[in-house]
Amino acid sequence: MKLAVIGCGYVGLVTGACLAEAGHDVVCTDIDADRIAQLQSGNVPIYEHHLDKVLESVRRSGQISYTADAGDAIRASEAIFICVGTPPKDNGDADLSAIDNVARQIATEARSSKLVIEKSTVPARTGLELRRALSAYSRNSGLTFRVVSNPEFLREGTAVEDFLHPDRIVVGVEDDSSAAQMREIYRPILERKFRCPVHEDACPAGPEAPLLVTTINSAELIKHASNSFLALKISYANALADICERIGADVHEVTHAMGLDPRIGGQFLQAGLGFGGFCFPKDLQAFVHLAGTVGVDFEILKAAERVNKQRIDRFLEKVHQALWVVKGKRVAILGLAFKANTDDVRFSPALEVARRMLAEGADVHATDPEAISRAEAILPQVAYHRDPYDALRDAEALLICTEWDEFRQLDWERVAKLMARRLVIDGRNLCSPARMRELDFEYFSFGRELVRSSRMEAAR
Ligand code: UGA
Repeated sequence: MKLAVIGCGYVGLVTGACLAEAGHDVVCTDIDADRIAQLQSGNVPIYEHHLDKVLESVRRSGQISYTADAGDAIRASEAIFICVGTPPKDNGDADLSAIDNVARQIATEARSSKLVIEKSTVPARTGLELRRALSAYSRNSGLTFRVVSNPEFLREGTAVEDFLHPDRIVVGVEDDSSAAQMREIYRPILERKFRCPVHEDACPAGPEAPLLVTTINSAELIKHASNSFLALKISYANALADICERIGADVHEVTHAMGLDPRIGGQFLQAGLGFGGFCFPKDLQAFVHLAGTVGVDFEILKAAERVNKQRIDRFLEKVHQALWVVKGKRVAILGLAFKANTDDVRFSPALEVARRMLAEGADVHATDPEAISRAEAILPQVAYHRDPYDALRDAEALLICTEWDEFRQLDWERVAKLMARRLVIDGRNLCSPARMRELDFEYFSFGRELVRSSRMEAAR
């Protein structure tokens, strides 16, 4: 099928690349002409695991093309995926101006009827507004547009795998023919008829993912409800970690045992610096706002947000407890991205920690496997190092802010020798307290025992 993708952020690019890999003819467009030029010349503007491989393969097979002219993309396609940004406004509501612009473009540029698929994360009822906007802007042409809500559940870092191996595909529709067309678009994915970039030999066997057909309002709500519930789980684990610290329990032991109950599940119970990124914080706010507009006070979500905001304070309390005075001290930060396997630093707790350390007068040195250039553009006052050992050399404290495997696998004996003081404050519970004790580190983490170095013990 001929498909257009409007918006070449990570959702748009992953959607375009994977649907092209599944055999569709995809044309991608974006208002950022530089980004389109970059993509046309074979460069991938974001770091997303496997995306470069898929984009290269579909570029070679001719399944994907790029144009800065949205009109061309719109006219060339039967179905259009809207993947533009919906950033938060000051009141927590989502800014839908990009969606409105795209609706106007589609309605005025199209020469035939199209299926318009809303993939951007939007508040409930946006699909219905989109349909109204499309019909208002197309009054003169008399064309009709069918609208579908097809929320994405892609995690940055594993987005290609999530797209090609979904747990579920949700399509919110108003008529059977839209549902049938969406099934056709996703058929190669459901039947696993694509070259999988993730599993080189064979994809793990498993049942076909369900394609759930719902109303548009339900589909939009499913996305909000899923993200908010996951955020709630994280905040629950973080509040639990605070209790564990106070009564001397281990949060990993507790969440591991809890997670074995299939009604609870073990994922998203990792305590630490809390959730960041462009999705959870803004989606939570938008959902609370939406609930408020229909007279529902979604108090538990407000509490989840509050707990999350306090994580940085809790982390800095540990820094102060350990370092006493921060001013003038060399501090190493491991991790800048909001989570591992991405270069995205938007709403990254790591950057907030760096900002606060700078404000207190620390000499901040930082490293990240992928996110240095993005962080540098925001916080030029930090000294950045590609090599983590250079970042932590002579440091009086090492703050772990992102859970990259590369940090887990550091030669910690070497780390101990390079640092001015063996002090680790682990915001992601990445290290094992037992190993840290063995290496005579002073080690702080969330919801687990405080490990004192032998010198600290002697000074007590
Ligand atoms: C999230 C959802 O997981 C996706 O399903 C959804 O499609 C996406 O938002 C979106 O709306 O586009 P993402 O923001 O990429 O995906 O990242 P997550 O893996 O969900 O992590 C979010 C944050 O929570 C990160 O800062 C991570 O470090 C933190 N986190 C995650 C924890 O602090 N503890 C955990 O146990 C899990």
